[in-house]
Amino acid sequence: MRKTELKTGNGEVSQIYVPSGMEDLPAICPPGKTALLVDDNVLKHHKAKLSDYLVINAGSGEESKTIANVARIYGRLIEAEVDRTWTIVGIGGGITTDLTGFAACTFLRGVRFGFVSTTLLGQVDASIGGKNGINYEGYKNMIGLISQPGFVMCDLNALQTLPEKEYIAGFAEIIKCGAIRRPDMLSYLQQNLERALAKDPEVLEHLVFESITTKVQVVEADEREQGERKILNFGHTFAHAIEKLYGLSHGEAVAIGMVMASYYSEKTGLLAEGWTSELTALLKKTGLPANYPVNPDDMAAIMRKDKKRKGGEIDLILLDAPGNAVIKSVQVDELKHILHDLC
Ligand SMILES: NC(=O)c1ccc[n+]([C@@H]2O[C@H](COP(=O)([O-])OP(=O)(O)OC[C@H]3O[C@@H](n4cnc5c(N)ncnc54)[C@H](O)[C@@H]3O)[C@@H](O)[C@H]2O)c1
Repeated sequence: MRKTELKTGNGEVSQIYVPSGMEDLPAICPPGKTALLVDDNVLKHHKAKLSDYLVINAGSGEESKTIANVARIYGRLIEAEVDRTWTIVGIGGGITTDLTGFAACTFLRGVRFGFVSTTLLGQVDASIGGKNGINYEGYKNMIGLISQPGFVMCDLNALQTLPEKEYIAGFAEIIKCGAIRRPDMLSYLQQNLERALAKDPEVLEHLVFESITTKVQVVEADEREQGERKILNFGHTFAHAIEKLYGLSHGEAVAIGMVMASYYSEKTGLLAEGWTSELTALLKKTGLPANYPVNPDDMAAIMRKDKKRKGGEIDLILLDAPGNAVIKSVQVDELKHILHDLC
């Protein structure tokens, strides 16, 4: 097992374990004063491993990341007489860990919390960095706060029950990590793609751990996303609009969004021509979509409401070389032209 830490300026520390799973939970959080918020599908497959604990079904899907579901969870915690001496643990993918972080940080003004991450996307991205957000009336992650989980356990065994489509979606965030900071990870993935897709434990552990350490460095430098942390949003401005409009999963939408951002980087002369084709080829080999027939006007309407916009402008993450992300302020209307081009 490998271990790393995320330390923030205000003294919060997150212990991160790869691999470590539901079976290891008693060593970190003994039953008795631990409440588990568990994804519905994880519960179907892994309930037996959690039998000693107070288990609350957290639901599943974006529709569970809502204030109504958080209110239901508060009710269950009150019913179980959970107090500040307890730990709340989210077990599931990014949806459950986002939801758990939000519920735990607001219940009793904040209760200790941690995650057992059971999706590839959650392990390499969503469970790390302390962003705990829920959706509001269809707008993603509109309400939330930043606070680090006490621990994150990356359950590589649990990936065996993850649907194939969800497993593949996780590669979008691994490829993002390579694109913005770690071109070596892109070469490693190219060379070991077959083993990665077959869930080879050694390759998986390498990809998960390296993605995490890269994210940890970025978050430690800028936890509140005043500058550098924004690079983690490469592809995400487009992705959030695609998710909302066309119902694609987060990972699929990020894959398409990265191609859009890379293409824009080339068209504005920032990035030498050719890399978008390489990125597209890698995404397709991995099984991810690289394009989608979006409606540029609908996309622009959503992007104008992006929570990171400033007036008509938005901070877009572009590349000036593979592995080197830059932040540029761009007019939303300008992006419409690029989308027309691409479609
Ligand atoms: N907080 C952050 O920094 C951050 C970063 C990236 C993404 N996110 C959020 O993460 C969410 C997406 O996360 P995700 O892709 O992990 O999706 P998810 O949590 O919806 O999980 C995907 C699907 O797999 C099921 N599942 C999970 N683990 C399983 C397992 N081991 N076996 C069988 N089924 C399993 C779930 O029920 C769900 O149907 C989005 O809401 C996104 O906004 C947050």
